[in-house]
Amino acid sequence: MPIDGISLPQHIAIIMDGNGRWAKQRGLVRTEGHKKGAEVFRKICRYASDIGVRYLTFYAFSTENWKRSKQEVGAIMDLLRNYLFEMEERERENEGSGYRIRFIGAREGMPADIVELMDAAEARSADKTHMHINIAVNYGGRAEIVHAARLLGEQIKAGALQPEEITEERLSALLYTADQPDPDLIIRPSGEQRLSNFLVWQSAYAEFYYDDVLWPDFTPEDLDKAILAYAKRDRRFGGVQSQ
Ligand code: FPP
Repeated sequence: MPIDGISLPQHIAIIMDGNGRWAKQRGLVRTEGHKKGAEVFRKICRYASDIGVRYLTFYAFSTENWKRSKQEVGAIMDLLRNYLFEMEERERENEGSGYRIRFIGAREGMPADIVELMDAAEARSADKTHMHINIAVNYGGRAEIVHAARLLGEQIKAGALQPEEITEERLSALLYTADQPDPDLIIRPSGEQRLSNFLVWQSAYAEFYYDDVLWPDFTPEDLDKAILAYAKRDRRFGGVQSQ
């Protein structure tokens, strides 16, 4: 493995982009791109787990993605459903993974059966420790911060908190990613160089890596490339350059 011996980012976040273009290039419908994208998601989870990444976060469906056609939204929801059913099935056959799953994003507005499956998958995997996987569904970074701010507001209203007691730590603890380290590396394939409302708070000191490859073509070797590029960066967190 080309990344043997290098220090790994503890938390990698990935914007799975380019599914539509991948399908179009092949004369296929967009949903075929998402289907292939979901396979690549599984493959990258397995590979990241093998090499020892502790936290992996994927952007699967944003709050803005509801604007897509009913058929496309339905197809992405079906892929999620399938993944959740498959996870249950594999566990029943004792072939479950060591992943602890967390769905980040608003449950409101999601199909009720998927919310049930997501809650159940989180509960069943709660004692797993090998690798944490976050799947962002109905997720928006600004909405996440607003949600946390409202919770703080409620605590103040109840007299449990004073406004001056609001700290970065207190707000972080109310985000969907509470208790997890911030991402060290954010990867966006498909040539786009935007954050698109992903992990807005958590990305404050993240390193960004962009790649032209479309997500359905993304391979473990592409992940290695991103990790190698990350390893060469000098992370200063606002301090001075290391000697
Ligand atoms: C962005 O590509 C991709 C999405 C909006 C959907 C991603 C969802 C999946 C890969 C399936 C998720 C399923 C599981 C099990 C996690 P795009 O459609 O915007 O691509 P384009 O920019 O080329 O049009």
